[in-house]
Amino acid sequence: MLSRVLRQPKEYLIAHPELELSWEQVQVFSACVDRLLKGEPLAYITGEREFWDLTFLCSPSALIPRPESELLVEKALALTEGKRVETLIDLGTGTGAIGITLASIWRDTYVVLTDISLEALLLARRNCIKILGSSRCVSFICCNWLEGFRPGVKADIITANPPYVSKNDTYLLQENVRRYEPERALFATDKLGLSEIRKIFRQAPQHLKRGGVILCEIGIGQCQKVIHFIKGLQIYRHIQVFKDLSGIDRVIAARL
Ligand SMILES: C[S@@+](CC[C@H](N)C(=O)[O-])C[C@H]1O[C@@H](n2cnc3c(N)ncnc32)[C@H](O)[C@@H]1O
Repeated sequence: MLSRVLRQPKEYLIAHPELELSWEQVQVFSACVDRLLKGEPLAYITGEREFWDLTFLCSPSALIPRPESELLVEKALALTEGKRVETLIDLGTGTGAIGITLASIWRDTYVVLTDISLEALLLARRNCIKILGSSRCVSFICCNWLEGFRPGVKADIITANPPYVSKNDTYLLQENVRRYEPERALFATDKLGLSEIRKIFRQAPQHLKRGGVILCEIGIGQCQKVIHFIKGLQIYRHIQVFKDLSGIDRVIAARL
């Protein structure tokens, strides 16, 4: 926080222990500490968060990118290794963390970022310009999952980190998450927290190329139910599950 207040990198603070703050700087810093003590997430106070090796602008209009979502990026890269990815659709992009990170690696890929929240999409656009530059070809669509796409539009990869917390499980969330992060980014509409995951897997086959892959982040205890649902659709050929660093089933990938 101090490094943000002084507009200096953290290393500068360590290298200059003798540094004295001006009265204005003390005031700004104290105001930030007050916000932190009231429970506001650090990323909303500093206005940024690291994800992968990039720094994303953050605001209360979008979920703060989580380290476990880096697994989705890692597996998207692994599952497409050696193949050309022409089109990526990132659903519910929020800050753009997943889609923009992949776009920064796949330099020739046409990337479409979507969200139902226009505020989130505007933040993703700012991140896109900051990280990828204004000449990179990225499209932004404000829509309900894949409903904003015409029937013929097909991607090689669809990524999604949908809201998957049940409203009955709000107690599972830390208070600062519940109070500060957007509801629409956190909660599914059914008791199991699966409503949005199911919609996405149901809609995706119409917008994936043959051999294309959808990768979706899921919550604790949802894996078997999601697999059962996907198998019931009888359209995906190959399903894989990946665990996060805590050993929790975190990402499901399904190939058409
Ligand atoms: C869990 S957040 C993920 C944000 C970002 N992808 C990340 O991993 O940090 C879910 C996102 O989905 C969006 N969302 C919720 N319902 C949606 C819907 N029906 N259609 C499209 N996006 C939706 C929310 O606005 C939110 O940005």
